[in-house]
Amino acid sequence: MRSFRPGVTGTFGILTAGGDCPGLNAAIRGVCRAALSRYNMKVIGIADGFRGLIENDTRELRPRDFSGILTRGGTILGTSREKPFSRGSLAYKDNDIGQDKVAAIKKNYHKLGLDCLVILGGNGTHTTGYRLTWEGLNILGLPKTIDNDIMGTEMSFGFSSALGIATDAIDRLHSTAQSHSRVMVIELMGNKAGWLALYAGVAGGGDVILIPEIPYDIKSIARHLEERAEDGKDFSIVVVAEGALSIEEAQMDKKDRKKFRAESGAPSIAYRLAKEIEEETGRETRATVLGYVQRGGIPCATDRILATSLGTAAAELLAKGEYGRMVALVGNEIGSVDLSVPAEKVRTVPQDHYMIDTALSVGTCFGD
Ligand code: F6P
Repeated sequence: MRSFRPGVTGTFGILTAGGDCPGLNAAIRGVCRAALSRYNMKVIGIADGFRGLIENDTRELRPRDFSGILTRGGTILGTSREKPFSRGSLAYKDNDIGQDKVAAIKKNYHKLGLDCLVILGGNGTHTTGYRLTWEGLNILGLPKTIDNDIMGTEMSFGFSSALGIATDAIDRLHSTAQSHSRVMVIELMGNKAGWLALYAGVAGGGDVILIPEIPYDIKSIARHLEERAEDGKDFSIVVVAEGALSIEEAQMDKKDRKKFRAESGAPSIAYRLAKEIEEETGRETRATVLGYVQRGGIPCATDRILATSLGTAAAELLAKGEYGRMVALVGNEIGSVDLSVPAEKVRTVPQDHYMIDTALSVGTCFGD
């Protein structure tokens, strides 16, 4: 039943799904402030991603909800990795809806009187959103992830803040590596795409950058480190994306790769790599896994600008009734693409990307 306010032009739901990141609240603020003040719409906040819509864990948001959140990290709505089209999700095992999550979403979407569902998320979220359009729901997406691996947009919000955090961490490792004449391996997030490791590696002056897109040979890395030592540089920084692969791993299927990693006994690639480097070069090597620090804290100015711009652009599409799209940075303009563009895809680093050539030009090794 729609609650009527004079002149309310429409009602939309908004949710944040997948990994959190700085900039989510700035984006929520951008969409909602524009939609409420400029287009006189009504907004329903949905808790914890798609779980909240499955269980109707929702509430109407008011202007006061968007005060003071521009600079807040995380998401005021909460998030989850609930995947409505996959079975056996952990997100809501106790409720009585059973496994038909999509039916529950459709039921609650209509029960709430939504004209559109606005989703803030990464690849998985936009894949779910695209599939919901085939179920008759109106969807609008905003690209969010520190991985920057969403097809259709030059940049996702969250990336710039994580880039700053990672670069600061690499800067700090330089001083301790130099003091101890050590090789320092730092592992950054980025399972399927190496954007964060590539950009932070260049920004932080990494001597070796390892990304999933370029399988590495430990002997090539060792040779590069030895050459540096022969030039009198007796410390090095190795920046590795959590999804980077050795040449051997790249030839394995998923099952064998998982087995290989379990047998290595290392909790993640940084530790395995540090051990291999020490064995190959005899140089003292230490590992740092930056982990969730990259997703925490307040958004940087670039992310605030991008998130607010994408949010207000989404409000404009809402007002026009232009659904089935993801707002995006297209070239250097704020635009939008069909939801089919990011769905089921990952935007990986092209081998001929200019940033790879830039890194090579300053003598960076990619392990190949
Ligand atoms: O999706 C972004 C991301 O931070 C990845 O870089 C990382 O591998 C993953 O999320 C971690 O997922 P979770 O927060 O569920 O542990």
